Amino acid sequence: MKPDNTPKMIFSVAGGKGGVGKSIFSVALGTKLAMDGHSVTLVDLDLGAANLHTYLGIIKKTPTIADFILKKVPSLHDVLVETSQENMRLISGSEFVPGMANPAHWMKLKIMRHVKSLAADYIIIDLGAGVHFNTLDFFSMSDRGIVVTAPEPGAVMNAYSFIKGALFRRLQHIFKNHPDIAPVIDTETKKTGGESGMGLEMLTEQIKTLSPDMLPLMQEIEHEFCPALVVNRTSEGHRHVLVRNLMTLCRDKLGVNIEHVGNLPDIPEITDYLLKIPAFLNTWSGKSYLDAINNISDKLIRRTGLHVHAATKSDFSDEDVEMIIHLMETLDDGIFSGTGRSACKLRMYFKPAEVVDFLISRGVTHEAFYTQER
Ligand SMILES: Nc1ncnc2c1ncn2[C@@H]1O[C@H](COP(=O)(O)OP(=O)(O)OP(=O)(O)O)[C@@H](O)[C@H]1O
Ligand SMILES: [Mg+2]
Repeated sequence: MKPDNTPKMIFSVAGGKGGVGKSIFSVALGTKLAMDGHSVTLVDLDLGAANLHTYLGIIKKTPTIADFILKKVPSLHDVLVETSQENMRLISGSEFVPGMANPAHWMKLKIMRHVKSLAADYIIIDLGAGVHFNTLDFFSMSDRGIVVTAPEPGAVMNAYSFIKGALFRRLQHIFKNHPDIAPVIDTETKKTGGESGMGLEMLTEQIKTLSPDMLPLMQEIEHEFCPALVVNRTSEGHRHVLVRNLMTLCRDKLGVNIEHVGNLPDIPEITDYLLKIPAFLNTWSGKSYLDAINNISDKLIRRTGLHVHAATKSDFSDEDVEMIIHLMETLDDGIFSGTGRSACKLRMYFKPAEVVDFLISRGVTHEAFYTQER
């Protein structure tokens, strides 16, 4: 098999509420994976309010993602910074730069394309608080979204709003060109909390009437959209009533199954280590936090390991995409029979990696699908 040094897995960490422990968790998860010998890159996409560099004790001025966004450097590789933890590098966020906190959609796609081409086993994207489109988009562009919350009413309600926002943002993107489904999704996203809304099940029912050929796509979304939940400042094994309510609400109202992958303990001494989180994990008081991170990372990797495609590309240049579209135009209709797919649908609704997976599963291959031998 050809070697592939694009990331095995891209995690994104979000949560709706501010200050619930997302960034410390991101650094700790990255440190644990790096301690196990994996190469890790942390990416600070809390645009305008970055602080991963602080938790890593990087005080002096380094290149930041702003240099890439403002086109001072051509590639994200150019802003990678080493950290005190062996195997772990950082793409640092920057202080507030006017216009940068809210990049255009094409710039978000460009950032993600470059993130996906970074050579690392794991990439961990730290996101800001709130339900800003940036956060929702980066969350849904990653392989697995992790929602961090605290077991308190405000944080849990914000986590619910975030999950709902991420789901509908994803549906909006997928169906944005569909003449019948796009208006239904738009109406749903404009509903206020008081109005009864549709979850995935009711939407699937509607789609059955509106456009039954889209049902396989809905089933894929139902299967894939499964955020992981981490509850901070709670003892191991405990499932707080508010967390149970959140899981029930997501299942009943949205049709989304979230996976509670673990809790993190409350450790007041953490405040003495805010400039050296990797070192904290090796202290006596950090041991229970590290144990919890070990359990959580095992669960995250076990599930997501299923999605690893060892030799196929995960990032595609514009030339690759054009080539794949051209290739589909030359295919016999027979390869789509019984699949609920067509060349037109693949082109409109699927990401290049999904198209490539589909084509390979139907026996079509091409050198542009695979990474080059290095
Ligand atoms: N497990 C914990 N035990 C004790 N205190 C914690 C724990 N996790 C986080 N904290 C406290 O919460 C503060 C905020 O943590 P962190 O910066 O990780 O949150 P955040 O969700 O990333 O915040 P923001 O929304 O501003 O990005 C820390 O400075 C620390 O004091
Ligand atoms: Mg943060």
